[in-house]
Amino acid sequence: MARQTQGEANRLDIRPETPADHMAVEALTREAFWNVYRPGCVEHYLLHRLRGSLGYLPHMHLLALEGEAIVGSIVYSRSRVQGAEGTGWDTLTFGPLSVLPGRQRQGIGSALVRHTLALALAAGERAVIILGSPAYYGRFGFGPAAQYGLTLPDGSSFDAFMALPLYPGALAGVHGIYREDAAFEGIDDAAVEAYDRGFVPKEKLKLPGQLFQ
Ligand SMILES: CC(C)(COP(=O)(O)OP(=O)(O)OC[C@H]1O[C@@H](n2cnc3c(N)ncnc32)[C@H](O)[C@@H]1OP(=O)(O)O)[C@@H](O)C(=O)NCCC(=O)NCCS
Repeated sequence: MARQTQGEANRLDIRPETPADHMAVEALTREAFWNVYRPGCVEHYLLHRLRGSLGYLPHMHLLALEGEAIVGSIVYSRSRVQGAEGTGWDTLTFGPLSVLPGRQRQGIGSALVRHTLALALAAGERAVIILGSPAYYGRFGFGPAAQYGLTLPDGSSFDAFMALPLYPGALAGVHGIYREDAAFEGIDDAAVEAYDRGFVPKEKLKLPGQLFQ
Protein backbone atom coordinates (compact mmCIF):
# COMPACT_ATOMS: atom_id res chain seq x y z
CA MET A 1 0.00 0.00 0.00
CA ALA A 2 1.33 3.43 -0.93
CA ARG A 3 0.90 6.30 1.48
CA GLN A 4 0.67 9.94 0.50
CA THR A 5 -0.04 13.03 2.55
CA GLN A 6 -2.31 15.76 1.31
CA GLY A 7 -2.56 19.12 2.97
CA GLU A 8 -1.65 19.04 6.62
CA ALA A 9 -3.60 16.26 8.20
CA ASN A 10 -5.30 13.79 5.85
CA ARG A 11 -3.36 10.62 5.19
CA LEU A 12 -4.23 8.98 1.92
CA ASP A 13 -3.53 5.32 1.30
CA ILE A 14 -3.64 3.91 -2.21
CA ARG A 15 -4.15 0.20 -2.82
CA PRO A 16 -5.66 -2.12 -5.45
CA GLU A 17 -9.35 -2.93 -5.20
CA THR A 18 -10.28 -6.38 -3.89
CA PRO A 19 -13.53 -8.34 -4.48
CA ALA A 20 -14.70 -7.35 -0.98
CA ASP A 21 -14.70 -3.69 -2.12
CA HIS A 22 -16.88 -4.20 -5.21
CA MET A 23 -20.23 -2.91 -3.96
CA ALA A 24 -18.70 -0.07 -1.93
CA VAL A 25 -16.74 1.11 -4.97
CA GLU A 26 -19.78 0.96 -7.22
CA ALA A 27 -21.72 2.96 -4.60
CA LEU A 28 -18.86 5.50 -4.43
CA THR A 29 -18.81 5.75 -8.23
CA ARG A 30 -22.55 6.34 -8.25
CA GLU A 31 -22.23 9.06 -5.58
CA ALA A 32 -19.44 10.81 -7.52
CA PHE A 33 -21.26 10.86 -10.87
CA TRP A 34 -24.88 11.21 -9.75
CA ASN A 35 -26.60 14.09 -11.60
CA VAL A 36 -23.21 15.43 -12.82
CA TYR A 37 -23.35 14.62 -16.55
CA ARG A 38 -27.00 13.58 -16.80
CA PRO A 39 -29.95 13.01 -14.44
CA GLY A 40 -28.73 10.03 -12.39
CA CYS A 41 -25.65 8.32 -13.85
CA VAL A 42 -24.47 5.22 -15.73
CA GLU A 43 -20.91 4.94 -14.39
CA HIS A 44 -21.60 2.42 -11.61
CA TYR A 45 -23.19 0.16 -14.23
CA LEU A 46 -20.27 0.81 -16.57
CA LEU A 47 -17.88 -0.30 -13.81
CA HIS A 48 -19.97 -3.44 -13.32
CA ARG A 49 -19.72 -4.15 -17.06
CA LEU A 50 -15.99 -3.47 -17.11
CA ARG A 51 -15.37 -5.97 -14.32
CA GLY A 52 -16.80 -8.70 -16.55
CA SER A 53 -14.85 -7.61 -19.59
CA LEU A 54 -11.62 -9.13 -20.89
CA GLY A 55 -10.02 -5.70 -21.12
CA TYR A 56 -10.54 -4.82 -17.44
CA LEU A 57 -7.23 -4.54 -15.58
CA PRO A 58 -7.92 -5.36 -11.91
CA HIS A 59 -4.30 -4.77 -10.81
CA MET A 60 -4.61 -1.20 -12.11
CA HIS A 61 -7.94 -0.54 -10.39
CA LEU A 62 -6.74 1.48 -7.41
CA LEU A 63 -8.59 2.91 -4.46
CA ALA A 64 -7.78 5.91 -2.27
CA LEU A 65 -8.52 5.43 1.41
CA GLU A 66 -8.62 7.73 4.39
CA GLY A 67 -8.37 5.27 7.24
CA GLU A 68 -10.91 2.57 6.43
CA ALA A 69 -13.04 4.87 4.26
CA ILE A 70 -12.82 4.48 0.48
CA VAL A 71 -12.80 8.02 -0.91
CA GLY A 72 -11.61 7.51 -4.49
CA SER A 73 -11.36 4.96 -7.30
CA ILE A 74 -9.63 4.84 -10.68
CA VAL A 75 -10.45 2.05 -13.11
CA TYR A 76 -8.22 0.99 -16.01
CA SER A 77 -8.91 -1.08 -19.07
CA ARG A 78 -6.97 -2.16 -22.12
CA SER A 79 -7.50 -0.11 -25.26
CA ARG A 80 -5.87 -0.23 -28.66
CA VAL A 81 -4.89 1.92 -31.57
CA GLN A 82 -5.74 0.18 -34.80
CA GLY A 83 -3.42 1.23 -37.59
CA ALA A 84 -3.53 0.54 -41.30
CA GLU A 85 -3.01 -2.90 -42.83
CA GLY A 86 -3.35 -4.95 -39.67
CA THR A 87 -0.98 -2.92 -37.49
CA GLY A 88 -1.98 -2.05 -33.94
CA TRP A 89 -0.67 -0.91 -30.59
CA ASP A 90 -1.85 -1.63 -27.04
CA THR A 91 -2.71 1.41 -24.95
CA LEU A 92 -4.40 2.03 -21.60
CA THR A 93 -7.59 3.88 -20.81
CA PHE A 94 -8.86 4.98 -17.42
CA GLY A 95 -12.35 5.76 -16.25
CA PRO A 96 -14.54 6.00 -14.35
CA LEU A 97 -12.40 8.14 -12.03
CA SER A 98 -14.44 8.88 -8.93
CA VAL A 99 -13.89 10.88 -5.76
CA LEU A 100 -16.48 10.98 -2.98
CA PRO A 101 -18.35 14.33 -3.30
CA GLY A 102 -17.37 15.49 0.19
CA ARG A 103 -13.70 14.80 -0.56
CA GLN A 104 -13.41 16.40 -4.00
CA ARG A 105 -10.89 19.17 -4.75
CA GLN A 106 -8.49 17.94 -2.09
CA GLY A 107 -5.99 16.30 -4.42
CA ILE A 108 -7.39 12.75 -4.27
CA GLY A 109 -8.22 12.47 -7.98
CA SER A 110 -4.79 13.87 -8.86
CA ALA A 111 -3.07 11.43 -6.50
CA LEU A 112 -4.85 8.48 -8.15
CA VAL A 113 -4.02 9.68 -11.66
CA ARG A 114 -0.35 10.39 -10.89
CA HIS A 115 0.13 7.14 -8.97
CA THR A 116 -1.34 4.99 -11.73
CA LEU A 117 0.51 6.81 -14.53
CA ALA A 118 3.76 5.97 -12.72
CA LEU A 119 2.65 2.32 -12.40
CA ALA A 120 1.78 2.21 -16.10
CA LEU A 121 5.17 3.59 -17.08
CA ALA A 122 6.93 1.10 -14.80
CA ALA A 123 4.92 -1.70 -16.41
CA GLY A 124 6.27 -0.71 -19.82
CA GLU A 125 3.01 0.72 -21.12
CA ARG A 126 3.19 3.13 -24.03
CA ALA A 127 0.34 5.61 -23.60
CA VAL A 128 -2.94 6.40 -21.89
CA ILE A 129 -5.92 7.54 -23.99
CA ILE A 130 -9.06 8.96 -22.41
CA LEU A 131 -12.26 10.89 -22.99
CA GLY A 132 -12.53 13.55 -20.29
CA SER A 133 -12.26 17.19 -19.35
CA PRO A 134 -9.20 18.91 -20.94
CA ALA A 135 -9.32 21.49 -18.12
CA TYR A 136 -8.67 18.75 -15.58
CA TYR A 137 -6.48 16.27 -17.44
CA GLY A 138 -4.23 18.83 -19.11
CA ARG A 139 -2.38 19.19 -15.80
CA PHE A 140 -1.15 15.59 -16.08
CA GLY A 141 0.22 16.14 -19.58
CA PHE A 142 -2.77 14.90 -21.59
CA GLY A 143 -3.20 16.68 -24.93
CA PRO A 144 -5.57 16.41 -27.88
CA ALA A 145 -5.34 12.88 -29.31
CA ALA A 146 -5.62 14.39 -32.81
CA GLN A 147 -2.09 15.79 -32.46
CA TYR A 148 -0.81 12.20 -32.37
CA GLY A 149 -2.80 11.17 -35.45
CA LEU A 150 -5.47 9.33 -33.46
CA THR A 151 -9.17 9.38 -34.30
CA LEU A 152 -12.35 7.94 -32.85
CA PRO A 153 -13.92 5.01 -34.76
CA ASP A 154 -16.13 7.40 -36.79
CA GLY A 155 -13.04 9.33 -37.92
CA SER A 156 -13.81 12.32 -35.71
CA SER A 157 -11.87 13.92 -32.89
CA PHE A 158 -12.70 16.56 -30.30
CA ASP A 159 -11.02 18.25 -27.35
CA ALA A 160 -12.20 15.70 -24.78
CA PHE A 161 -10.41 12.91 -26.69
CA MET A 162 -6.94 13.05 -25.18
CA ALA A 163 -3.72 11.06 -25.12
CA LEU A 164 -0.63 11.00 -22.95
CA PRO A 165 2.54 9.31 -24.22
CA LEU A 166 4.18 7.85 -21.12
CA TYR A 167 7.73 8.48 -22.33
CA PRO A 168 9.25 10.67 -25.05
CA GLY A 169 8.44 9.33 -28.48
CA ALA A 170 6.03 6.69 -27.14
CA LEU A 171 3.46 7.58 -29.80
CA ALA A 172 5.91 8.21 -32.63
CA GLY A 173 4.68 6.16 -35.58
CA VAL A 174 1.47 5.24 -33.74
CA HIS A 175 -1.47 6.48 -35.82
CA GLY A 176 -4.95 5.15 -36.29
CA ILE A 177 -8.31 4.49 -34.74
CA TYR A 178 -8.79 4.38 -30.98
CA ARG A 179 -10.68 1.28 -29.84
CA GLU A 180 -11.88 1.29 -26.25
CA ASP A 181 -13.16 -1.75 -24.37
CA ALA A 182 -16.54 -3.02 -25.58
CA ALA A 183 -17.96 -2.40 -22.08
CA PHE A 184 -18.08 1.34 -22.88
CA GLU A 185 -20.31 0.80 -25.89
CA GLY A 186 -24.03 0.16 -26.18
CA ILE A 187 -24.99 1.03 -22.61
CA ASP A 188 -28.71 0.55 -22.48
CA ASP A 189 -30.96 2.82 -20.35
CA ALA A 190 -33.18 -0.06 -19.24
CA ALA A 191 -30.16 -2.09 -18.08
CA VAL A 192 -28.85 0.92 -16.13
CA GLU A 193 -32.27 1.40 -14.50
CA ALA A 194 -32.47 -2.26 -13.53
CA TYR A 195 -28.92 -2.27 -12.11
CA ASP A 196 -29.57 0.95 -10.22
CA ARG A 197 -32.43 -0.69 -8.28
CA GLY A 198 -29.79 -2.58 -6.31
CA PHE A 199 -28.63 0.70 -4.74
CA VAL A 200 -30.13 3.11 -2.22
CA PRO A 201 -32.77 5.18 -4.10
CA LYS A 202 -31.59 8.63 -5.17
CA GLU A 203 -33.46 11.40 -6.94
CA LYS A 204 -32.55 12.05 -10.56
CA LEU A 205 -32.40 15.76 -11.35
CA LYS A 206 -32.15 17.68 -14.60
CA LEU A 207 -29.53 20.31 -13.87
CA PRO A 208 -28.00 23.08 -15.97
CA GLY A 209 -24.66 22.11 -17.51
CA GLN A 210 -25.37 18.37 -17.79
CA LEU A 211 -23.99 17.03 -21.07
CA PHE A 212 -26.73 14.45 -21.64
CA GLN A 213 -30.40 15.12 -20.94
C1 LIG B 1 -13.16 14.90 -11.45
C2 LIG B 1 -12.64 14.33 -10.12
C3 LIG B 1 -12.23 12.89 -10.29
C4 LIG B 1 -11.43 15.17 -9.71
O1 LIG B 1 -10.91 14.67 -8.49
P1 LIG B 1 -10.65 15.68 -7.29
O2 LIG B 1 -9.98 14.92 -6.21
O3 LIG B 1 -11.94 16.36 -6.97
O4 LIG B 1 -9.70 16.75 -7.98
P2 LIG B 1 -8.27 17.25 -7.50
O5 LIG B 1 -8.35 17.70 -6.09
O6 LIG B 1 -7.26 16.26 -7.89
O7 LIG B 1 -8.11 18.50 -8.46
C5 LIG B 1 -8.88 19.64 -8.21
C6 LIG B 1 -8.84 20.50 -9.43
O8 LIG B 1 -9.51 19.85 -10.49
C7 LIG B 1 -10.54 20.68 -11.00
N1 LIG B 1 -11.62 19.83 -11.40
C8 LIG B 1 -12.27 18.91 -10.67
N2 LIG B 1 -13.22 18.32 -11.43
C9 LIG B 1 -13.14 18.88 -12.65
C10 LIG B 1 -13.86 18.71 -13.87
N3 LIG B 1 -14.86 17.83 -13.99
N4 LIG B 1 -13.50 19.47 -14.92
C11 LIG B 1 -12.50 20.35 -14.82
N5 LIG B 1 -11.78 20.57 -13.70
C12 LIG B 1 -12.12 19.84 -12.63
C13 LIG B 1 -10.89 21.58 -9.83
O9 LIG B 1 -11.46 22.78 -10.30
C14 LIG B 1 -9.53 21.84 -9.23
O10 LIG B 1 -8.83 22.80 -10.00
P3 LIG B 1 -7.68 23.71 -9.40
O11 LIG B 1 -6.57 22.79 -8.97
O12 LIG B 1 -7.29 24.57 -10.55
O13 LIG B 1 -8.33 24.42 -8.26
C15 LIG B 1 -13.72 14.42 -9.00
O14 LIG B 1 -14.07 15.77 -8.82
C16 LIG B 1 -14.98 13.61 -9.30
O15 LIG B 1 -15.09 12.47 -8.89
N6 LIG B 1 -15.95 14.24 -9.99
C17 LIG B 1 -17.22 13.59 -10.34
C18 LIG B 1 -17.00 12.47 -11.34
C19 LIG B 1 -16.18 12.91 -12.54
O16 LIG B 1 -16.47 13.92 -13.18
N7 LIG B 1 -15.13 12.10 -12.86
C20 LIG B 1 -14.24 12.38 -13.98
C21 LIG B 1 -14.89 12.10 -15.27
S1 LIG B 1 -13.86 12.59 -16.65
